[in-house]
Amino acid sequence: MRTQVAIIGGGPSGLLLSQLLHEKGIDTVVLERRTRDYVLGRIRAGILEAGFVNLMKEAGVAARMEAESFTHDGTIIAYGEEQFGINFKSLTDESVVVYGQTEVTRDLYDARDAAGGVVLHECSGVTPHDLDTDKPFVTFLHDGKVVRLDCDYVAGCDGFHGPSRQAIPLTVRREYEKTYPFGWLGILSETPPVNDELIYSSSDRGFALCSMRNDNLSRYYIQCSLSDSPDDWSDDMFWDELMRRIPSAAAESLVTGASIEKSIAPLRSFVTEPMRWGRLFLCGDAAHIVPPTGAKGLNTAASDVHYLYHALTAFYDGGDTEGIDRYSEKALSRIWKTERFSWWMTNLLHRFPEQTEFDLRIQRAEIEFLRSSEAAQRALAENYVGLPY
Ligand code: APR
Ligand code: PHB
Repeated sequence: MRTQVAIIGGGPSGLLLSQLLHEKGIDTVVLERRTRDYVLGRIRAGILEAGFVNLMKEAGVAARMEAESFTHDGTIIAYGEEQFGINFKSLTDESVVVYGQTEVTRDLYDARDAAGGVVLHECSGVTPHDLDTDKPFVTFLHDGKVVRLDCDYVAGCDGFHGPSRQAIPLTVRREYEKTYPFGWLGILSETPPVNDELIYSSSDRGFALCSMRNDNLSRYYIQCSLSDSPDDWSDDMFWDELMRRIPSAAAESLVTGASIEKSIAPLRSFVTEPMRWGRLFLCGDAAHIVPPTGAKGLNTAASDVHYLYHALTAFYDGGDTEGIDRYSEKALSRIWKTERFSWWMTNLLHRFPEQTEFDLRIQRAEIEFLRSSEAAQRALAENYVGLPY
């Protein structure tokens, strides 16, 4: 079997890259370890930067998103009983779009199907070979047979636990990591959102976030202990704790209901360098992770896809290798800035076990500074709507 670009991983990074390259006449094969239903069962964040929306348009997969998504011009920051808004639109002239990652992935699968794209599910033992030569290939087991896929390039879009990153020798690879001493317990419920904008809330009991998917589908999170399990939290316990962490006006208008999904995610900041080794490119969660505060996971994946798509297109168009040679440098430059923002927003709004009274006062002063300073609000807004590619 032969293709131009072998893509390991059929999450949003792999599918978006595959669809964009297809639009430019470049052939790909996507190798996914799980079933399609499993991939579509994962609930992830739902805030899209304008850059992501533009890539979906360029890939020809924006129709449903344009019909069903919601534009948000700002967000609410709450602390105790206090709250204030940050208006992205007036500060940056840009907005964000609310549309779930699951829906993005579904649209990309549908587009790949419609175009006759090859996406192989339930591939096991996916292993890239000879990445430092000009004849790389990938082997895997599919339908009980060992398959060899020859290619020009390999895109490692296989998430944090995938094999691609491990293929970069340890003599070359550097990893930078920060873990946080808490997780996020999230629920999805078929209830109307408590507010028409997101509420990021810092409280003495810990962080809480009120988010949404549509008029009758809400997503809420509370900071929780890493030793908690979702089974420790009944729906009633969750709602009760959420209400104690948001201003009482919001708590009083909160509509509660049965959860249809409940899960805990640990928080981590992680970056691997370089993002290219020989003919392998890392993309998305395979190369970096951000804590979810600020919803940058999917958006950082999209910026990698943007740089890689342009690099490969320029190469196949006329042999220009500048984009390929500079992929890692360009992608990392934007990634680190977004890592900084997600880390900063996490520090601003969460309670840390080791925080002293002094730390708490500084944290509150920083939130009050944000409230009072247009410059500080603009800095948040600029990052939240997405830094330029
Ligand atoms: N072989 C093939 N596929 C694999 C392997 C493997 N050995 N290991 C992992 N995969 C697949 C996973 O099953 C998953 O479908 O790679 C895909 C990676 O998808 P994501 O983890 O969603 O990563 P990515 O596409 O980069 O998207 C980044 O998703 O994880 C969120 O917060 C993240 O929103 C961000 C976005
Ligand atoms: C979500 O809706 O899931 C969401 C929104 C904003 C975040 C994180 C997650 O910062």
